[in-house]
Amino acid sequence: MAFPPGFLDELRARVSLAGVVGRRVALVKRGREFIGLCPFHKEKTPSFSVVEDKGFYHCFGCGAHGDVIGFAMQQENLTFPEAVEQLARQAGLDMPRQTQDERDASERQATIRGAIEAACAFFEETLHGPQGREARLYLDHRGLDLATLRRFRLGFAPDAREGLKRALAKTFPEPLLIEAGLLRRPDSGASYDYFRNRIIFPIGDRQGRVIAFGGRVLDEGQPKYLNSPETPLFQKGRVLYGWAQARAAAARQPSAIVTEGYMDVIALHRAGFAGAVAPLGTALTETQIEELWRLAPEPVLCFDGDAAGQRAAGRALERALPLLKPGQSLRFATLPAGEDPDTLVLHHGEGAMSEVLARARPLAEVLWEMEAAQPSDTPERRAALEQRLENRVRAIADRTVQDHYRSFFRERLFALKRRPGGRLGRFRAKSGGQRERPGLAEAAPAADPRLLRRHRQEVLLAALLNHSFLLHEVAEELAELQLGDPRLDKLCHEILRLHALNPDLDAATLKLHLTESGYARVVQGVLSPQVLQHAAFARPEADAETVRMGWLDTRDRLQEPDVARQMAEAARDFVEDASDENWGRLQRLKQTALETNKEDDGATGGGIR
Ligand code: UTP
Ligand code: MN
Repeated sequence: MAFPPGFLDELRARVSLAGVVGRRVALVKRGREFIGLCPFHKEKTPSFSVVEDKGFYHCFGCGAHGDVIGFAMQQENLTFPEAVEQLARQAGLDMPRQTQDERDASERQATIRGAIEAACAFFEETLHGPQGREARLYLDHRGLDLATLRRFRLGFAPDAREGLKRALAKTFPEPLLIEAGLLRRPDSGASYDYFRNRIIFPIGDRQGRVIAFGGRVLDEGQPKYLNSPETPLFQKGRVLYGWAQARAAAARQPSAIVTEGYMDVIALHRAGFAGAVAPLGTALTETQIEELWRLAPEPVLCFDGDAAGQRAAGRALERALPLLKPGQSLRFATLPAGEDPDTLVLHHGEGAMSEVLARARPLAEVLWEMEAAQPSDTPERRAALEQRLENRVRAIADRTVQDHYRSFFRERLFALKRRPGGRLGRFRAKSGGQRERPGLAEAAPAADPRLLRRHRQEVLLAALLNHSFLLHEVAEELAELQLGDPRLDKLCHEILRLHALNPDLDAATLKLHLTESGYARVVQGVLSPQVLQHAAFARPEADAETVRMGWLDTRDRLQEPDVARQMAEAARDFVEDASDENWGRLQRLKQTALETNKEDDGATGGGIR
């Protein structure tokens, strides 16, 4: 029986696990746990532990694990409802009573189940009998062999008003057959078969019991597919075609594939993709997405490459966002134009399907591409993109996943902004981007421009050594940097070389490699407290965004032409040609130098430049 919501939680809260277990096992309290000899296997030293506040027991010896209900079931050899009843009695909890209506409803469901199973058997028999000849030819023509027909229990509904009705009328009352969706009752006149002259695809529930049917015409008739109406057993938004078969294969092949149609599921199973399932002619519902995650952590959804397919992908993505969990997502694959999985496998073999699946992209990637498809070449457009992404991220209910999406998009926005030659990148450079965020740039300790340059170079390398993720993002820009100091320049090249060899190098391994290949001293210098003292963003504990912004600011500053040298040039030009233009340029440079000094003064207390 189904217990009302909350009842089992109430039960677990009321009975003490240690109390129940303690009646069977001598327990000793140790910290927050109780320890004893495991009742589920023979042992001499205790490895059985009861965690009372979490409500479960665990044996480190044999792996036995469960809650209080599980313990009662195993120890007393009870079924789930029996164990619940026993514990409820002990705890003085009243068992929820099934109402007469509830009992009637579950009895009715059982009878409907019986009628549907009988119908399934009838359709199957018909397909393999004389009336099924044409249908068998059709299925054969579509490449389905006998074993497959049997496995999916395909059937045929004869071309008759009362084929099924006559066959089942002896055993089942007519109103039941109508309720089961097997007969249709017109406004006036006698009821008649719901499915006529159609290939029948039985639809199973989680346990693989048939609960409904899909029926396909043999010719070009309309509608091509007809599904059972909704019944007490069947709500089409809660079911996936092929789920039970996929589940049975899940241990062998822990990937799930979502296609559109019955024939696709069957063709994929035949081609060895046993995780194939399909919704029943509708967009994926939340329930169906949850069902998918019972099969695999990252099911692949296949969509057509056309606009309609991409819209459908967008809808599925939107549905899934609120439901994402750590480790639990969707991937998106695009089918070649004009093919569905069935025809793809038929025309190009399973290799072609494998390729489609291998190219499936993670949900985050697809979402980014959808949003970033619009131009983001002005600050306003970029702001709008950022806002759209943030709205999407907010739809994610799980906080951890939400955080990771946020930083994923931040990195993408950042890459977009820094794209070499990108219009946005140039815009930012012109507007003096580094001064948009006062305080982020780390001030330098020295007034001597040469020392300052060297310090900045060291800081840049220190940040890379402590935060290797940054290498991915700035490798190109790093390669273009001219580091004046030959030792730093060599170190920089070695870092780039190691990164090129292994892009996934983490910071510790990177440092280890460098130390082992003769860079110990220079690395030590770069990571010395004197360098890091004035560059918090480069320290190991800095967060990614700080590191990133700090790095870019320092890089920008390093590349800024030396104001002093520019001023000298401008002064010389003015001496040679005392034009208004040259005068103006000199004045502007003076002003810039003054402002820069002020800014850095504020941060360090020491004038630079
Ligand atoms: P398709 O029209 O793509 O059919 O519909 P298909 O699966 O490729 O079928 P074949 O290869 O022509 O036999 C995809 C799915 O949409 C639903 C069905 O679930 C079908 O499998 N559908 C389609 C309907 O429910 N009714 C329809 O009239 C058509
Ligand atoms: Mn098809």
